[in-house]
Order: sequence, then C-alpha cells, then structure tokens
Amino acid sequence: MKVIESVQDMKKASQALRAEGKKIAFVPTMGYLHEGHLSLMKKGREAGDVLVVSIFVNPTQFGKGEDLERYPRDLEKDKRLCKGEGVDILFVPSAGEMYPENYQTYVDVEKVTKNLCGLSRPGHFRGVATVVAKLFNLVRPDYAIFGEKDFQQLVTIKRLVKDLNMDLDVIGMPIVREADGLAMSSRNSYLSQEERRAALNIYRALRAAKKLFEEGERSAGVLLNEAKRVIEIEPMVVLDYIKLVDVEMMEDMERVEDEALLATAVRVGETRLIDNIKLRKT
Ligand code: PAF
Repeated sequence: MKVIESVQDMKKASQALRAEGKKIAFVPTMGYLHEGHLSLMKKGREAGDVLVVSIFVNPTQFGKGEDLERYPRDLEKDKRLCKGEGVDILFVPSAGEMYPENYQTYVDVEKVTKNLCGLSRPGHFRGVATVVAKLFNLVRPDYAIFGEKDFQQLVTIKRLVKDLNMDLDVIGMPIVREADGLAMSSRNSYLSQEERRAALNIYRALRAAKKLFEEGERSAGVLLNEAKRVIEIEPMVVLDYIKLVDVEMMEDMERVEDEALLATAVRVGETRLIDNIKLRKT
C-alpha cells in the first residue's frame, strides 16, 4: 500500500493509473475506521481495478464549538485496516495541503442541503461538498463509495457530481450496525457505557415508526409521533430532529405513500449521533 501525503503526488499517481487504463474506486473518509468504512472499501475493491482511500479530518465541515479538535484519530490502526482490505493508495493530506494560504473557493449544493443536518449544522454541507469536489479532482475516481448513514451527504454528493458534470459513479452502501442495532460511527467512541446503552433507543424508535408504516399508517405526523414517543422513553437521548423526507430532495413530507426517509439526529451527552431508515411500500 502506497501512502501519499501531498496533493501533487496524488495527482501524479491518479494520472499514471488512468494512463494505464485502470478504473479507480475511491472511498473518502475522516479515519478512525470501523466496519462501516470497511464495507465501503470492499465495494470499492469489487467496483474498480485500484482502490484509493483518503483520510482527512476536514476542518471546513465542522462548525464553531463542534468536535474538530477531539475528533478521534488513530492513523497507525487505520493503515493496518486499509492494508487488510487491499487498499492500493492511502491519501492522507494535511490541512495545509488541502487549504493552503489564501484558499477561498467553496462549493454550495443548494436545495438538498437545506433541511435536516443543514438546519442544525449551518455550513456543514458546504464544507463536505468542497472537500469532496477537491478530492475528486485529485483522485479522479471512476467510482466513489459513501455510506447511507449520512444519507443527506450521499444525496448532496450525487447532486454535486451531476450538476458539475463530473464523470464518475457515486455508489451508496447500506448502514452497518453493531449486533445490538447501533449504527456504526467513529463518534460512538465518545459514548460512555451508559450513553451507549441509551443510544440503542435511536434505532428502536426508527423501527417502531417503520412497523406502523408497514401496518398501513401513512400520516407523517402519526409516524413521527410514534418515533418521538419511543425516543423520549430514554431521557439521555435528546432529540435534535426527526423528520420524514423524500429521498431525492430531502423535503418534509406530510404523507408517505410509496417511499420516504425517516431521518434523525440526537444528542447523547456531548455526542451528536445520526441515523435513518427507509420506509418503502412493498
Ligand atoms: O463522511 C465522511 O467521513 C466525510 O464527511 C467525508 C465524505 C469524508 C468528507 O470529509
């Protein structure tokens, strides 16, 4: 596995690979890798001839008072995991490489970033879209693989690729959960034992609303009330939002006929967690 730190070297490597006719699969991450990331890498291995992974804790997607400084990092462990997944190139740029002095260009994907996390984390998706556009320019992937836990991020990146006429396929992969249902996230490492136990209520609430939908309930209000009722059973889980949105535009729905995303963000202690589930008529 080759480890690349500079933007120039990454560009050269991707140019050489493309000249050889290799298809590049790319998994962008912020590191502190878990099984969810590894599932994206496995998909990348299948999709392309070479697999590139990036690890970069992107400062522009963190707001004031968020966890940029304490975001978990363990590069040596991440390197071992990447090697184990057959990663060909690990790209680990510094913040100075990605945002040198006088940096001033940002990418704004407008509508799909307005709702959900866009409301509670202003500027977050601007940072995500900017860094992902920059990474795509450096890595020049044919396939880029993202997890559906950050569903709004996935929709945002699909939109960015379409709107900016980028020539790659964006592939979404299902959420990977712990055996007890907690969606895998690097931020789970912040949770105390008690908080982790309380956090199980998030997926319980999503499943409770999904069950009602499967029994025929179509009113968003009723479905959301059911999810809220279950979340509120656990006082340590403080709701930021829970919403039913359409899967393309991320706009609130009043009734769910065929398909919707039930998405939530909560705070458990100091930790912000997100999760979602699709409701789909069978
Ligand atoms: O999902 C993440 O880990 C990040 O938001 C991403 C896509 C790597 C951009 O920094």
